[in-house]
Amino acid sequence: MKKFSIPDIHTKIKANEKISFITAYDFPTSFYAKEAEIEMILVGDSGGMCLLGKKSTMEVTMDEMLIMTEAVAKANSSSLIIADMPFMSYSTDHLALENATRLMQNGAHSVKIEGGSWICKLTSILAERGIPVCAHMGLTPQSINRIGGYFVQGRDISKKKHMIEEAKSLENAGASMILLECIPNDLTIEIMDNISVPVIGIGAGQKTDGQIMVVHDLLGISCLEKSPKFVKNFLKGSSSIESAISKYVKSVKNKTFPSKSHTFY
Ligand code: KIV
Repeated sequence: MKKFSIPDIHTKIKANEKISFITAYDFPTSFYAKEAEIEMILVGDSGGMCLLGKKSTMEVTMDEMLIMTEAVAKANSSSLIIADMPFMSYSTDHLALENATRLMQNGAHSVKIEGGSWICKLTSILAERGIPVCAHMGLTPQSINRIGGYFVQGRDISKKKHMIEEAKSLENAGASMILLECIPNDLTIEIMDNISVPVIGIGAGQKTDGQIMVVHDLLGISCLEKSPKFVKNFLKGSSSIESAISKYVKSVKNKTFPSKSHTFY
C-alpha cells in the first residue's frame, strides 16, 4: 500500500472522507493499524501512561518517545506517523528543532506539539525546515497543573474567542493540522469555519475531518480510572484486536463514531 502523505490527507478530506487515526507505541499495534489501512498513527506521549505505567504524560522522556517512534515506524510502511514532542522537549526554539529532528530521524513524518499562540514561532521554524507540525489545542495534558484537571475546555465566550484566534494564528504560522481535544461541538464548528487545515478531534464532536482514539481505550484496556465520555470500546463484540481496529475505522468512515453520546455540548 502507498504511504499516506499530508497532501493525500487533504485530498481525502476534500472528497468528504473522514480520516482514521489511532495511537500506537509498539510494533504489533502499528502493524495492525497498517492492516486496517489507518491513515495516521500518533506515537502519543500517552504511551508513557498506557504502556509504561507513568502517572502523567509529564514523566515521558525524549528517549522513550524515540524508542516508541522507531518501533512504530518499523512495522508500518503506509500510515503517516506523527510523534508527540514530550513535556519540555520544545521549551525553547533550539530544543524544539533538535528534538523534532531526532523524532523525524527515528521514523516520524510529522510532530505534534501542545499549545496555542506561544508555539506559533517554533511551528514556523519547524515547518520552514520541512517538519510538519500538528498543533494540539483544547485540553492539553502536559499543562494539567496549570489547567487544574482533565475537563472540557473552551466553554465560556472569552475562552472560545481566544481559541479561535489561536487556531487562526497556528494556521498562519504553518501548522499542517490542528488536533482538538475535549471541547464543545459548537466551538469545533467555529474553529473549522475559520481555518482550512485539517482538523482532527478527540472529544471534539462529530464535525472534525478525522478522529483519533488512544488504542488502549479502543480496546477497553484504558489506563484511566474512569473512561471519558468520548471513548468507545470497540473490542466489545469483536473477536480480535485486528477486527476491533477495523470496526473503529469503519465507524469513523461511515460517520457513526463519534455519535452524539460521545460529544460535548
Ligand atoms: O498522547 C496522546 O495520546 C494524545 C491524544 C490524546 C491525542 O495526545
